[in-house]
Amino acid sequence: GWPASPAVAQATYPTRSITIVVPFAAGGPTDTVTRLVAEAMGRDLGQPVVVENVGGAGGTLGAARVAQARPDGYSLLLHHIGMGTTPSLYRRLSYDAVNGFDPIGLVTEVPMTIIARKDIPANNLQELVELIRRQRQELNYANAGIGAASHLCGLLFQTAVGAPMTTVPYRGTGPAMTDLIGGTVDLMCDQTTNTTEHIRAGAVRAFAVTTAQRLPSLPDIPTTAEAGLPGMEVTVWHALYAPKGTPEAVVNRLSRSLQFALRDEKLAQRFADLGTAPVAQDRATPAAARAFWQADIAKWRPVIEAAGQYAD
Ligand code: MLT
Repeated sequence: GWPASPAVAQATYPTRSITIVVPFAAGGPTDTVTRLVAEAMGRDLGQPVVVENVGGAGGTLGAARVAQARPDGYSLLLHHIGMGTTPSLYRRLSYDAVNGFDPIGLVTEVPMTIIARKDIPANNLQELVELIRRQRQELNYANAGIGAASHLCGLLFQTAVGAPMTTVPYRGTGPAMTDLIGGTVDLMCDQTTNTTEHIRAGAVRAFAVTTAQRLPSLPDIPTTAEAGLPGMEVTVWHALYAPKGTPEAVVNRLSRSLQFALRDEKLAQRFADLGTAPVAQDRATPAAARAFWQADIAKWRPVIEAAGQYAD
């Protein structure tokens, strides 16, 4: 491992810019959330907080980068529900996906939307499901790789529909959205932080939101239960992490800074426009994030084993 930072360095932390790795492409949902958080944290910390996109392999390349970084508080990871699913989806990883990070705090829980290219021949979710059953693997489902939220939602959707689709993997749903708008792929299930504005603009069609209640930001879109797929509920939790072994004082400083960011009114307003909200202050803590992360690993393991779709 790395030598521990001297206490004197911790007292003045941070003395230079901090990098937050987003394990997906720029312009997508994780990137959007992270840039808002990074900007506000930078104001609190008095140093720039820079976002670096390290996409690929369903978020595992970016996570590996941070797991292997020096645990000094200058390399962080903002990742989502993939932290809960990856340990079950991947049999071989270059890093410890269960224990290789020190959580800093939860950030947000983002609803998802089942969307399609705008000219898909279906008027509602039931018609979409019938189309998928009829056309089978001729419909292309875009996702951000095994371990992505869009992959997990696709698994749940295919299980509910009872028919497989052909999946097309991207480095993030930002680039996937470009192809969905262009009509070169047919379907996606993606977070409202990426889809809301394109749904409102009519660039894509939305069939359902994956929450128990309708969203104030998309009031005309039915819930999955209303649209005929009861039980298909999923929200995408995000948390901020440091590499394992980061000094506790640094982790606590970062947690306070995350709480500052999540209190920011402009951030909260932007989150609301995008269908989500910051977590409560007492969840933006190392203990809350660790408990949630570990519970989520246990929650998804049987679901993934039942679906039987693994990465190599
Ligand atoms: C992204 O930022 O591209 C997404 O979070 C991808 C996903 O998990 O579906």
